[in-house]
Amino acid sequence: MPKSIVLIIGGGIAAYKSLELIRRLKERGIGTRAVLTEAAAEFVTPLSVSALSGHKVYADMFSLTDESEMGHIQLSRSADLVVVAPATADLMARHAAGLANDLATTTLLATDKAVLMAPAMNVRMWRHPATQRSLKALKADGVSFVGPEDGEMACGEFGPGRMAEPETIADAIERLLSAKGSLAGFKALVTAGPTHEPLDPVRFLTNRSSGKQGYAIAAALALAGAETTLVSGPAEIAPPRVARLLRVETAREMLAACESVLPVDVAVFTAAVADWRPDIAANNKIKKAEGGPPTLKLVANPDVLSTLAHGTRRPGLVIGFAAETENVLAHAMEKRLKKGCDWIVANDVGAPGVMGGDRNTVHLITSEGTESWPEMDKADVATRLAARIAERLGKVA
Ligand code: CTP
Repeated sequence: MPKSIVLIIGGGIAAYKSLELIRRLKERGIGTRAVLTEAAAEFVTPLSVSALSGHKVYADMFSLTDESEMGHIQLSRSADLVVVAPATADLMARHAAGLANDLATTTLLATDKAVLMAPAMNVRMWRHPATQRSLKALKADGVSFVGPEDGEMACGEFGPGRMAEPETIADAIERLLSAKGSLAGFKALVTAGPTHEPLDPVRFLTNRSSGKQGYAIAAALALAGAETTLVSGPAEIAPPRVARLLRVETAREMLAACESVLPVDVAVFTAAVADWRPDIAANNKIKKAEGGPPTLKLVANPDVLSTLAHGTRRPGLVIGFAAETENVLAHAMEKRLKKGCDWIVANDVGAPGVMGGDRNTVHLITSEGTESWPEMDKADVATRLAARIAERLGKVA
């Protein structure tokens, strides 16, 4: 079956690039039905969009002919994916708030398909806390993003806000289309976030992990159709939509939660598990003593990954992460063998902005060799990894 998308074109100067996107998609055998917002019609004409897409352009929600030919609910479900390009600050905010005051937002609210947004706006608008709030809410609702990129904008300013190039958006669309259903029928387990190892009821040892990479991987596996369990340490970010979310605090709880979901076809261990914990967690708050500060004695925590990888109910495909700050590849290769993983994803957590940030540069190490991926969004690392997992598990859409 040829694949198709519904393309919502927002009102921004980048709208002209959407015409190029339709052309690129056609070359790849992907059909487009376009929806224009009122503002978009100021930048591109419905006639040029319909000439390129080969379909009528949808614009007015209350047009009776539109509703009799194809209602907005049907339109929103007629394709394999809904893409918003350019996604303006206004469209992002309206969808994040759940508004349905035009055909574009009604389509977004009514769809049962995955949604991809390609934001485009002035750099200040992008950085504004209100837009960042919308972004966070939309990601938590499972919306995928491509871009924005850094660059000079039509308004002359420089920074993030430029819409991704049509070729890049087409790549992201193809990845999402092929991910769909590729892991249906498989069970996945993902660990994410830090752990908290208590000293007493008010103090704990922990680390800087945000959980972003693990949450993105759980979201990508779920999107690809895997029945996904996310075992998460205490993270501040909103959890993705997954079949099961098990929240834990300590390494020992994380191990028990993981064991409770076995067997699984694939397990991805992204959690930054604390290697040690205080030997005793006091029941009451430790008070200042006469003799000065207490001496902490640490004991080893269980290694969740290694325990599962060497256990009798070993997941079919075991994928570890290696957080390194020096000799990244050498240490990661060693870790892959020592911990008994099939694949290990090495990342340089010493690089600025990785721990807690949105981007990552990783190397995928398997028994066949090492692949170095370019720097990309954590969400893209996740989509790419999910695609590789689907390839390995042998079911590609
Ligand atoms: N891991 C785990 N349980 C632990 C420690 C680590 O499951 N107690 C997993 C992590 O989720 C990751 C991999 O093991 O997939 C490697 O974690 P990393 O922190 O890089 O390595 P460590 O084992 O902690 O080794 P080191 O701190 O010496 O680099």
